Amino acid sequence: MCGIIGCVSEGPVSGILLDGLKRVEYRGYDSAGMATVNDGKLSVRKGAGRITDIERRKHLSALGGNVGIAHTRWATHGGVTDRNAHPHTSCGDTLAVIHNGIIENYIPLKTRLQSKGHVFKSETDTEVIAHIIEEEYGKRSDPLRATIAATRKLEGQYAIAVLFRDRPDVIVGARKDAPLIAGIGDGQMFIASDILAFIEHTDKTVFLDNQEAALITKDSLKILGADGRELSREPTQVAWELSNISRTKYAHHTLKEINEQRQTVAAAAVQDPAKLAAFAGAIRKAGTIFITGSGTSYHAGLLMKSRLNHEAGIRCDTVVSGELKEHSAFLGKGSVLIVLSQSGETADVLEAVKEAKGRGAKVLSIVNVAGSTLSRESDQTLLLNCGPEVGVAATKSFTAQAVVVNMVVDAVLGRKRSEGVEELPKAVEEALKTERQIKAIVQKYMDRPDFYFVGRGYQSPVALEGALKLKELSYIHAEGMPASELKHGTLALIETGTPVVVINPSGENHADTLSSSEELRARGADLIGISDVEDRVYKHFVRVPRVQPKFMPIVEVIPLQLLAYHFAVAKKRDPDYPRNLAKSVTVK
Ligand code: AGP
Repeated sequence: MCGIIGCVSEGPVSGILLDGLKRVEYRGYDSAGMATVNDGKLSVRKGAGRITDIERRKHLSALGGNVGIAHTRWATHGGVTDRNAHPHTSCGDTLAVIHNGIIENYIPLKTRLQSKGHVFKSETDTEVIAHIIEEEYGKRSDPLRATIAATRKLEGQYAIAVLFRDRPDVIVGARKDAPLIAGIGDGQMFIASDILAFIEHTDKTVFLDNQEAALITKDSLKILGADGRELSREPTQVAWELSNISRTKYAHHTLKEINEQRQTVAAAAVQDPAKLAAFAGAIRKAGTIFITGSGTSYHAGLLMKSRLNHEAGIRCDTVVSGELKEHSAFLGKGSVLIVLSQSGETADVLEAVKEAKGRGAKVLSIVNVAGSTLSRESDQTLLLNCGPEVGVAATKSFTAQAVVVNMVVDAVLGRKRSEGVEELPKAVEEALKTERQIKAIVQKYMDRPDFYFVGRGYQSPVALEGALKLKELSYIHAEGMPASELKHGTLALIETGTPVVVINPSGENHADTLSSSEELRARGADLIGISDVEDRVYKHFVRVPRVQPKFMPIVEVIPLQLLAYHFAVAKKRDPDYPRNLAKSVTVK
C-alpha cells in the first residue's frame, strides 16, 4: 500500500529517488517524503499531498548526499498530515525509516519506548520502528544486525528501509509479508517495494524472502536469513522495458493500458506448453478445488469456475481471498487452491495461500509480476505477460487473466490449443472502436447517481467487473449482478432514466436476458446493451465483435473499462490514482 525506495550511489541520489518515487506512486499517494545523509547530517523533507506538490513545496530533489530513502504513503495508522508522512526518525535524528505494512503491536511498543524517554513526533505505527532500531543500534554498531534485532520485536507486516546518519555508505532493508526487492546497478544499488522504482537504472533484481534482511552499499549486497546466517542469491533479470511504464501519447496510464490490450491478449496467450500441461494435470488430479482472488482477479476466477463446472465437469468453488478461511475446513492434502493476482502481493491473497498451504493444499497461481511473493509461494505459476500495470484499476490484467484461465481450462479438457485465441487482437481492436460512442453515453448520464450492470451465466462476472471499474474510477455508485436477481429486490430501485448496462451476447442466455431487459424497460430504465446482436429494447446499443463464447468477456469488458475511464475524466477524477485506493493492497 506504500511505495518505498532507497539508493546508495557514487553520485547524488535525490533526483534518482524522486523519479523512482513517481513510478511507484500508484502504490499509495496521500503523502510522501525523502531523507538523505550529507556531510554527516541526516535531512528529512516530507508532507501530505501528491509527490509533485511536495516537490514544489519542499524541494526534495535539492537534498544533497549519495545515500537516501524515499516513500509515498497510503495512510493506515495516523491521518494524512505532514507529521505522519514518512520517513520517520529516531530521537536526535540518528536514523530514518520508511515502511510499507502495518505494525500490529505498535501501541504496547510505543508505550514502553515512551516510558524509557523516547519522544514521538507522529501518530503512525511506523515511528516505533525508528526508536527500536535506535535502541538496538546503541547495543551494537552493526546497522544490519541492529535492524534484525529490532524487527524481531515487531508483529504484523513490514518492508522497511533504514538510513543511518553515521553510515552514509549503507542502507538496510528488511521484510515480512510485504515485498522488498534489491536492484543491482552499476556503481549504485537500490532497495524498493517494486521493480518499477529502479527499472530505469537496472533490470537485475534480487527478491528478498520473508524475514530476510539486506545491507546495500553502492556496489555490494549482503543478505542475512531469519537465523542471521549470510545468504547468497543470484540476481534475476526482469523483462520489463522502461517504455512500458511511461504514458507515451496517452493522457493516463489507465487509457494506455486499456489500449495495450490489443497486444497483451496475445502476449498472455504465449504460455509454456509443459507448464500449461502441468497446471492442467494438477487440476485434473485434485480433490477439492478452490479458486481465489480479490477484486478484479476474483471476477476472472469466476470465469474459470464457470467453465470448469460446465465444460469439464469439475466441481470447484470461487471465494474472495479475504473469506477463504471460512471454507478452509474443505482444504487438505490433495486439494488445490488456484490463485489469481496481478501484483502477487495482495495481503488477503497471501493470507489465503498461507492458510491453504498450512492445510497441505497445492497452490497454483496465475500472476503478472514474476518473482512476486505469490509466485514464490506457489507450487506452479503461469504468468500473464502483460507488462507492468500502473493504473490502479485492473484493465489489461483482467483480459490477460481471461485468456490464461481459458487456456488452462482448454488444457484440462485435453485440447492441444485454445481455439480462437488468435482472433483476439483483432477483436480487441474492434471493441476499442466503441470509445467515441461510450464518450457520448457518458455525457448523457453525467448526473445519474447510480448505475447497474447485469448479465447472465458467464456474463455475470463481466457485470461485476463493469460495476467495480465504474465505482473505483468515477466514484459513481454501481452494482453488478446476475440479471435473474433483479426481480428479487433491486428492481425496486429502477426508475425512469436509471441507466442499466446489459451484457447480453448471442447464445444460450440471450433470450432470458432480453426478458430481463423488457422488465427493466417497463419500469423506465435506460438500457445500454453490450452485445454482438442489436435489439430494439436497448436505448443505446454498443456492438462488440463475436468471438468464441469463452472469450466474449474480453471484448465485452473493454467498453465497460472505457465507460469507467471517461466518466472519471468527465468528472475530473484522476483515473490513475483514485482516492482511498492503491494498486497493490498489501495490508489486510
Ligand atoms: C481492480 O481494478 C482493483 N484495482 C482491485 O480490485 C484489484 O483487482 C485487487 O486489489 C486485486 O489485486 P491483485 O490482482 O494484484 O491481487
